[in-house]
Order: sequence, then structure tokens, then C-alpha cells
Amino acid sequence: MSPMMRRIDEIMEIKIWLTFVTFTIMTMAPMQVSAADAQKGLEHARQRCTTCHVVEPGGKGSDQAPAFRTIANDPSRTHAKLESWLAHPHPPMPNPNLTRFQIDNIVAYIQSLKNP
Ligand code: HEC
Repeated sequence: MSPMMRRIDEIMEIKIWLTFVTFTIMTMAPMQVSAADAQKGLEHARQRCTTCHVVEPGGKGSDQAPAFRTIANDPSRTHAKLESWLAHPHPPMPNPNLTRFQIDNIVAYIQSLKNP
């Protein structure tokens, strides 16, 4: 093989490899976005929200704000409304500055408290 051909061969190999890497990243990203984890949401809420809310039924917390179970069973508090509230709450609730992933997880947790 001429040095020129070898060079072309190497470039082709790199291109194929890059295509593979790009494809793998593109197919994995949406999976992460949609995988809301209620258990992680609970753990996070235990650390951040119990000073004002009863996070877990029967758990510790304050009654100065509605309990998460009450929130979960109020049909007017839809998934979309909970998400936008957590991104931009208004006083007296302070903004907890949650990431997109933390919001998804906490909303998944709150909704898991819905009575059947
Ligand atoms: C300093 C006290 C305080 C903390 C800490 C706090 N909240 Fe709140 N939260 C409130 C109060 C008070 C309300 C009721 C506000 C109202 O109805 O106007 C509220 C309301 C809510 C609501 C209901 C919004 C609605 O649709 O009416 C949700 C959901 C909520 N909080 C989630 C959380 C989460 C999740 C955390 C932890 C990351 C948290 N809160 C931390 C005080 C707090």
C-alpha cells in the first residue's frame, strides 16, 4: 500500500470510529433525561424540604407548608405545574435552585404519593 493510500485508510478508520461514538452518545442522552428516579427525589427532599414540608407520610416535617401527600392528591397540581413551581417558586417558599434532573426526580417522588 502506498503511504498515500495508508493515510486515507487511517482517516476512514477515524471517521467510522467517530460516527460510532456520536451515535452512541446521541442514543444515550434521551434515556437519561426521561429516567426520573423517585427514590433519588425522596432522598433529596429529605435533605432539603423537611424544614417546611412533611415529605414522607408519617415522617418528620413542619406543617407550615402543605404535606407532599396533600400536594400529590390535589388534582389541580399537575405534573407540569409542580415542575414550573419547583423551577420558580414564589414566597414564602424560597427557591431551592434545583437542577432539571433534581426537579424530575422530586416530582416523580411527589406523584408516587398519590392515593390509588
Ligand atoms: C422555608 C420553607 C420551605 C421550604 C424549605 C420548602 N418549601 Fe415548598 N412550600 C413552602 C410554602 C410555605 C408553600 C405554600 C406556598 C403557597 O401555597 O403559596 C410551599 C409549597 C410547595 C409546593 C406546592 C406548590 C403549589 O402548587 O401550590 C410544592 C410542590 C413544594 N412546596 C415543594 C417543595 C420542595 C420539593 C422543597 C424542597 C426542595 C420545598 N418545597 C422546600 C415552603 C417551603
